Amino acid sequence: MLATACGKKEDVAATPAPAPAAAPAPAKTSVEVLHYWTSGGEAKSAAELKAMLEAKGHEWKDFAVAGGGGDNAMTVLKSRAVSGNPPTAAQVKGPAIQEWAAEGMLASIDSVAQAEKWDELLPKVVADVMKANGSYVAAPVNVHRVNWMWANPEVLKTAGVTGMPKTWDEFFVAADKIKKSGNVALAHGGQNWQDFTVFESVVLGVGGAAFYNDALVKLDPAAIGSPTMTKALNTFRKLKGYTDAASTGRDWNMTTAMVIGGKAGFQFMGDWAKGEFTAAGQKPGEGFLCAAAPGTANAYTFNVDSFIMFKLKDEGAQKAQADLASAILSTEFQEVFNQNKGSIPVRLGHNMEKFDDCAKLSATDFVESAKSGGLVPSIAHGMAVDPAKAGAIQDAVTQFWNDDKLSVADAQKRIAQAATN
Ligand code: BGC
Repeated sequence: MLATACGKKEDVAATPAPAPAAAPAPAKTSVEVLHYWTSGGEAKSAAELKAMLEAKGHEWKDFAVAGGGGDNAMTVLKSRAVSGNPPTAAQVKGPAIQEWAAEGMLASIDSVAQAEKWDELLPKVVADVMKANGSYVAAPVNVHRVNWMWANPEVLKTAGVTGMPKTWDEFFVAADKIKKSGNVALAHGGQNWQDFTVFESVVLGVGGAAFYNDALVKLDPAAIGSPTMTKALNTFRKLKGYTDAASTGRDWNMTTAMVIGGKAGFQFMGDWAKGEFTAAGQKPGEGFLCAAAPGTANAYTFNVDSFIMFKLKDEGAQKAQADLASAILSTEFQEVFNQNKGSIPVRLGHNMEKFDDCAKLSATDFVESAKSGGLVPSIAHGMAVDPAKAGAIQDAVTQFWNDDKLSVADAQKRIAQAATN
């Protein structure tokens, strides 16, 4: 065997020396990774992660918990952790990372981060989120932009809409035309996190990045109670009139499918939606269009997916965690994974040549908005405030969306209350 492997074929015929007792092959460590990537486009991306880990000699044990935005996954993760049986790694992001670290449950991945110079290759705004008490405890996979608007060009054309609306006023003019043409103007899935996703884009578009920061990151009561927030809530409420009756409870990817299939004109959703368009074989500029949500072209709500590693005693598991952390940030993985996922690579200066135009725009806007002050963390996707507060604000926003009788003033009070609790 050895001889053949070394290419010395002539030795094969010689009398073989008695083979030393072969050391048993090390048992493959099974790496259990919790994630919530279950839609068509997401599953393709998760498959890349699995393939990469298997190439490193580990066995992937899939722990997928369906549910967009990850709320279900976080509930399941907590119950596993509480029972003392956490997975090897889990898809957790934003301030929740520090909460897990404060529980003393996370393994440091500083040795990998230092060896591979993460401080130099990651944007500071991302690196800061991955650390607890100065140590890396999470590995980032990507940068998603949340303030996107997706459209079906055929639906727009049929309705006589030329070009993507740049302001909310333009949006409502376009939406009226689509409604008249018999299609659904706005594809929306009525779930808490999807309502909240649309809401944050409206706040950003109506108020601008500085206002968004005050109201939804700093949770400044004056900003939440301001006339600008009143205007944002009125705009948000007006959108509902352009959705279809079956919107309630619809999953986000089924909502994107309405745009893909030519049943609806627009959707406001982060660029994981692009993963659905591309998985359906569509190309930007042809099958679908992307543009920043109205009024948000100079701003960028970022959402960085990342994996935390749990403190485990098993050495094989520790090795697998280090391999996972290292591979996640490799140029090769970043390139393939992000093309499937709809996001952009998290490494600074990654060559975007092979990416599509929406991703190229995202990469440019990420850098530009960081310079101009337009780069803000997404509250709807767990990047801006701690999970408990974000959840309470999300509930207030959803109540407002669902209850047409709830006044804007009352909604403002409820949001303010949720933000202070
Ligand atoms: C995550 C994405 C995911 C999306 C839908 C977002 O919060 O960051 O990775 O595709 O939710 O589940």
